[in-house]
Amino acid sequence: MQQVILDSVWKKYCELYATFTPSFQRDLLEKTARHCSGYVVDAGVGVGKMLEYYDSNLNVSGVVGVDSSNDMLGIAKKFNSRRGLEIILKNGDVRTFESYDIADTVVSLNVLYALRDPIEYLNFLSSSMKENSTLVMSSQNRDLDLKKVQNALDEEFSGDDFEKFKQIQSDLSVTSTLSTRRFSLEEMVSLFKISGFEVIDLDSQTYLGSNFFIVGKRRR
Ligand SMILES: C[S@@+](CC[C@H](N)C(=O)[O-])C[C@H]1O[C@@H](n2cnc3c(N)ncnc32)[C@H](O)[C@@H]1O
Repeated sequence: MQQVILDSVWKKYCELYATFTPSFQRDLLEKTARHCSGYVVDAGVGVGKMLEYYDSNLNVSGVVGVDSSNDMLGIAKKFNSRRGLEIILKNGDVRTFESYDIADTVVSLNVLYALRDPIEYLNFLSSSMKENSTLVMSSQNRDLDLKKVQNALDEEFSGDDFEKFKQIQSDLSVTSTLSTRRFSLEEMVSLFKISGFEVIDLDSQTYLGSNFFIVGKRRR
């Protein structure tokens, strides 16, 4: 199945992505963790930025992280749980992953915009997830303001590595501007409802207003 953003792009990005976690991203990770309980499937786990948050959330009993990039997973695998939480990291495609039905919580952060058919992915999640399980999703807003994000990054970081990181990030954003999918929060609310999720939390101000954040319960 064709990808909008190729694994070779993620490969270039992942080490620097692991190095820089701005405060507005930490806010998203913390907010996500508050909605997690039981067994978590992290779809598009990336370099594993959520792993420390799962580890410190005692309501989380185990984690499977899925990602199609071995480079991303390679970094995630360096994470050590302090409380012996079971964390399984698997190479796989979030659009066809066969075990969403084991999850009490599915987390999908900043993956939707990279998929050619986000609605197909949402429908697949919905048909695979068990009743009353939770989906936490965030991705680029339709009116993403990249300048605002870049300015905030500039206030927080500096240095040569940071300049490289910004360059790759802006290349990625150009790629995503060309062909990826962005949604307003209102559109996401409709899509969640249509695909069988009861919306229990939402926020349009995540990532300095550049991401939507939505949480739904799968109802049959
Ligand atoms: C922007 S990163 C976000 C990573 C992580 N969720 C986070 O918030 O830090 C997007 C991730 O999605 C992964 N990805 C993109 N398309 C995928 C697919 N079809 N199946 C599995 N992983 C995918 C990429 O490899 C990358 O690690």
